[in-house]
Amino acid sequence: MRHDPPRERDQPTPVIEGYPNTARRTPAAKLLRRPLPRLLTAGAAPAMPLASIDMAEAVPGKPAMGSRIMVQLRVVDEDGRGVPDAVVEIWHANAAGRYDHPADPARAPLDRHFRGSARVASDREGRLALHTIKPGAYPVPDSGQWWRPAHIHFSVLGRGAVTRLVTQMYFASDPMLEWDRIWLSVPDAQARARMVATQLPPHEAPITTDIERLVFTHTLVLRGREETPPA
Ligand SMILES: [Fe+2]
Repeated sequence: MRHDPPRERDQPTPVIEGYPNTARRTPAAKLLRRPLPRLLTAGAAPAMPLASIDMAEAVPGKPAMGSRIMVQLRVVDEDGRGVPDAVVEIWHANAAGRYDHPADPARAPLDRHFRGSARVASDREGRLALHTIKPGAYPVPDSGQWWRPAHIHFSVLGRGAVTRLVTQMYFASDPMLEWDRIWLSVPDAQARARMVATQLPPHEAPITTDIERLVFTHTLVLRGREETPPA
């Protein structure tokens, strides 16, 4: 069966005005097209407990500042099947909108109790639970008045090299989405919506969930027509 690739309007505009990195990382020449097979998922998945990571307590017993959240993530292939053992790298700003990285010039404070990045593998059904705090918005350096809305970065490596996806997750009902050039660089509204997490009403959160966390669900589609747009 042939691979059904995403449409061009589901993908971000390569060069985003006011975001110099996008010009540097965009190839100047037209890309060559080659047919790709559908995702290979054959093979026994290793037996694993539900994958889980906590970025909100880098120092045990000392919670990071900010609203505590849990994101129930699922990594799926183009047929909606869970991708086991996917390596998910996660990074985001702290609640003040500051990255724990020497290249971040922001004056917003660091939080030594917040772990700014993590790497975890999905379980046999492609699921993982991310415990963290809600990131803050931040101004894009040297861009004038442009701010990024709250977002979480993901880099996902599935079971083959063609299933790498680098994307961002946003929060619903955030007015800053409509001003974000990266969000708006994906022309299709339905494709943009695939980058937004769903919030569960607190009374519908799983009974095992820490009551002090707001719960979100989000699906990362690695390939195909319903692919989560890269960012
Ligand atoms: Fe960011």
